[in-house]
This record gives sequence, C-alpha cells and structure tokens, in this order.
Amino acid sequence: MSADTEQTRPRSSSLPVTKAVVPAAGLGTRFLPATKATPKEMLPIVDKPAIQYVVEEAVAATLRDVLMITGRNKRSIEDHFDRAYELEEALAIKGDDERLRSVRESDGLAQMHYVRQGDPRGLGHAVLCAAAHVGDNPFAVLLGDDLIESADLLRRMIEVREEYGGSVVALMEVEPEQVSLYGCAGIEPTDEPDVVTVTDLVEKPAPEQAPSRWAIIGRYVCDPAVFPVLQETPPGRGGEIQLTDALRELARRKPEDGGTVRGVLFRGRRYDTGNKADYIRTVVDFACRRPDLAAELLPWLREFVDRQGAQQG
Ligand code: UTP
Repeated sequence: MSADTEQTRPRSSSLPVTKAVVPAAGLGTRFLPATKATPKEMLPIVDKPAIQYVVEEAVAATLRDVLMITGRNKRSIEDHFDRAYELEEALAIKGDDERLRSVRESDGLAQMHYVRQGDPRGLGHAVLCAAAHVGDNPFAVLLGDDLIESADLLRRMIEVREEYGGSVVALMEVEPEQVSLYGCAGIEPTDEPDVVTVTDLVEKPAPEQAPSRWAIIGRYVCDPAVFPVLQETPPGRGGEIQLTDALRELARRKPEDGGTVRGVLFRGRRYDTGNKADYIRTVVDFACRRPDLAAELLPWLREFVDRQGAQQG
C-alpha cells in the first residue's frame, strides 16, 4: 500500500471513549426571535441553561473532556462554563453560599474546550470541526439542545462501542407521521434486546420511504473513521453536511475500515429544547420534579388545566 493510500484510508480505533463533542453552533431559527442574540442552548430549563444538563450528562458517563462547537453569538456559552469573579465576590460578601455554589457548579464540571464552526454548514460539518481535538480516539457526540433523562443511555452506548467497535447511534421509536422530522434507521436484531445492527440510515424521510419507525436522537458514539468520510460527504438534505449521511456510509463498510453501526434502543424520556412546544414541556416537567417548586406549581397547574377544560367544554 502506498504512503498516500495509507494516509487516506479510514482506520478503526480500539482506544476507549473519553471525549465528548457538543455541537452548539446552529442558528436556532425555530426559536426566533429569542435566539437572535442568545444561543438556544442557553435557554433556561427552570434555572439552568439546557447545555449545562448536557455537559452534566457527559460527565456522569465519565467523559470529562468536553469540546464545544460554537460560533457567532455563542460567547455566553463559554462565559457560563468559566469563573464569574465579580458575581462570586458579591455573593461571598453577602454570605449567600447556596447561590455561590450554584454559580460555581458549571465552571468546575469538566475540562472545557472550544472550537468555532464559522459557517454553520450542518451537524456533519460541526462534528468535522472536532477532528484535530479528537484525533484517533472514538468520541461521543451530544447535541447541545437535546436533553435525555439520565446518563444511562450514553453509558450503555459507550459499553456497546467497547463490545462491538464501530459507531453507535441512539434510536427512539416515533409515530409514523413523525419520521420525517428525524434521521431514520433500517435495523436488524442482535442477541441483545436493546442493541440492533444499523443497515441503513435516511435523513428526514417521507413516511412511506422510512426504513423503520426508529429515529436517531441526539446522542452518538463515533469511530474516528467518521472524519475522512465527513470530508467526502457532499451537502445533503437542506443543503447541509449531514452526520446521518456519513454514518450511513460507515454502516456499509467493513469493521476493519471503521465500519459497522449499532443502535441502542432508547425507551426513556427525551426533550428537543430547540422546538418551542417541547421546550415548554421540558420546563414544566423539570419544574414539577423540583422539590422547591413542585408544592407551589402542581396545584396551580391542576387548577389551570381544569379552568381550560371548563372553558373548552
Ligand atoms: P438543529 O438541527 O436543531 O439545527 O441542530 P439548528 O440550526 O441549531 O436549529 P434550527 O433548526 O435552525 O432551529 C442540532 C444541534 O446541532 C448543532 C445545533 O447547535 C444543535 O445543538 N448544529 C447544527 C451545529 O453545531 N452546527 C450546524 O451547522 C448545525
């Protein structure tokens, strides 16, 4: 094999997963005008920005090296994961230890790294921006606006990667009329009830063209072989470079070329906070589970729903 071919041939990696990549450079057009100057990932879920939950999930899955893909108008994300000396000093002088702790929580959470995407040319392009930081390591991708109830899913995906190699996607069963909102997977069972082999992936298919009702949600574990594939991936749906298209290519490749994609079937709760209705559901759900808020909120919510019902009836 010539030196050239050796360099360009995608290679699979057997290193452990230690790094998380969090793409957060999208324009957030579904949430305008709120996202004109504020990143959608910084919208609060009760009193914490959505993206802090995502970083907490990565850390809970033992991934303390977090690379955030950011862009213009995203400075507040970096500030949030940094020290805030003036604020901390003011709280310390007041002796407000509880708030001081809450402010300090985000800066000690993980080893944060940042890279800018420049043009937001799609999720695949955002992931490609992580190539220099990630190198030959397999890595997790957690979408910055997608909240998953617990870190169990990501832990299981890392386990599956360690067991089978290749890449791993998270799959959630959706209603047939919803498949066109997601990337959808063609799947075959394995010996493990929660793990499938992915045979095909289609980004936002029409319901009649969807290979199944199993949709990709915002957690991935990628083999570094995805980088050379992304480099060659032309813009797909919406004129964007799609991670789904690169993973479809890997699903067709042999294991020795970084190929094979498994899916972990997820049956828990997941929230797309970049979508208005889901964002509101997330805030209500999280608030109702908070001991400091539930006692006040739940009776009001019940009364509100009854009042709405009476008005409509
Ligand atoms: P979305 O599909 O939600 O796209 O991205 P978007 O552009 O952010 O939002 P809308 O559709 O215009 O409302 C999913 C995740 O991928 C990131 C986003 O920040 C989000 O966390 N992303 C998307 C990038 O980092 N770069 C991109 O070019 C596109």
